[in-house]
Amino acid sequence: MQLPDAQVAVLNAADSETHRPITEIADEGGIKPETATGAAFELAEEGLVAVSDRTETTTELTEEGNSYLDDGLPEIRLYEVAIDAGADEEPVSLGQLLGQAGLEGPEVDIALANFARKGYGEVDSGDVAATPDTDPAADEELLALETLAAGDAVDDEEILDQLERRGLISRTESTVRLVTLTEKGVTTLMEGVEVAETVGQLTPELLTSGEWRDVEFAEYNVEAAAENPQQGKEHILRQTANRVKDVLVGMGFNEMDGPHVDAQFWINDCLFMPQDHPARTHWDQFDLEQPDEIDELPEELVENVRRAHLEGVGEDGEGYHSPWELDVAKSLDLRGHTTSLSMRYLSGFAEGDLEPPERYFSVEKVYRNDTLDPTHLLEFFQIEGWVLAEDLSARDLMGTFTEFYEQFGITDLDFKPHYNPYTEPSFELFGTHPETGEIVEVGNSGIFREEVCRPLGVEADVMAWGLSLERLLMLMYGFEDIRDVHGTLCDLELLRDVEVVY
Ligand code: PHE
Repeated sequence: MQLPDAQVAVLNAADSETHRPITEIADEGGIKPETATGAAFELAEEGLVAVSDRTETTTELTEEGNSYLDDGLPEIRLYEVAIDAGADEEPVSLGQLLGQAGLEGPEVDIALANFARKGYGEVDSGDVAATPDTDPAADEELLALETLAAGDAVDDEEILDQLERRGLISRTESTVRLVTLTEKGVTTLMEGVEVAETVGQLTPELLTSGEWRDVEFAEYNVEAAAENPQQGKEHILRQTANRVKDVLVGMGFNEMDGPHVDAQFWINDCLFMPQDHPARTHWDQFDLEQPDEIDELPEELVENVRRAHLEGVGEDGEGYHSPWELDVAKSLDLRGHTTSLSMRYLSGFAEGDLEPPERYFSVEKVYRNDTLDPTHLLEFFQIEGWVLAEDLSARDLMGTFTEFYEQFGITDLDFKPHYNPYTEPSFELFGTHPETGEIVEVGNSGIFREEVCRPLGVEADVMAWGLSLERLLMLMYGFEDIRDVHGTLCDLELLRDVEVVY
């Protein structure tokens, strides 16, 4: 029978009487363990070998365990100086003994706890009484540490558990693959196997010499178990953020940027949010103490916005008739939405005046004083966007969302009428969670009111939105808790294994 050389090597090294670990077989056959594993599975498929698993525990001394091997266990050191000082007859002061044993810092507590536990003696109001006639050289934990250090196995589970609790050893479990020759394997070997002259890789030499015409190429086994290297990779949130940017650029949008900490003027006042609006309290937004205000704001715009708040806009406009303070407008917050950037751009403050049609977006962090739960964090990424054009309607908005979300495989959007102080009409957007079937809010949108646009000097219509990147991810990947992708509780398996949808 002709077989590829790795398979021949494994077959020759395998035995029908003993289950041999794959590493041993690889060693003997002079091949890499992963090559041996692949070959073993191919042979197993032909029934020539059997592959099985065994779980092995490796026990190693920790740094602390090793240091006690050199210096002695703290409780034994205490016992030995106590006996020398005659504490088996008359209690001796603990302080004196600690000094003699050279015990200090955390070792003191370790010595005392184990001294009492092992019956080496008692400590009572600062005095140590040692138990006479105890042999610390027979200390079971010490003996176990010595045995392990010599590379031998310790069978007593209780002692091993105790040493692990003390942090003196660490145990790790691993799976060992074992290979055994089957009867068919034995027969095949007796009949004789030869290495099939197959070529695993096409090389430049094979090409230039023309030899490739005559050689036989090894077949790929695409089902063979392969190594699964776990290396760093781009976080799915970042990957999706980049994809969102690509999609929006593809739809003709330009990217905005701007400060995470901004004046309430840009965050709230420009948006016709009354200064006594509940969302403007510290229950919702994070204020900055230092510095306490923005360096400068465009004077004319501030005046326009102030007047819009007090008197409204247009002939029959109505303002809020409530106080409007420049100090409040100047005060600094972590932005609760990136609509602050939209205000900077639409007013011309960021990049000069804009002529319709224009489209802008950002995919940036926003900060809110929310209560943490499966769908809320104190910060998240907002997909902000707006279109400046003549004669926009709710249909344009809905069409844009349908087109945008389709790129991410989401085709079942729902729209719900909503209220924002700055848009009219306003819509909330919902999608269906692929796992739970629940309806999840994914964004908020609308057409900016006159009270927002006129003070900014914008004459045409502006439709705008703020969508949550994390919620988009939930719909795409089906995880149920936003904390699966953020922070210390994140689901590493999800982050590693999830297939990115492109
Ligand atoms: N600022 C809104 C939010 O954070 C989103 C939004 C932006 C809504 C623009 C309408 C217009 O929820």
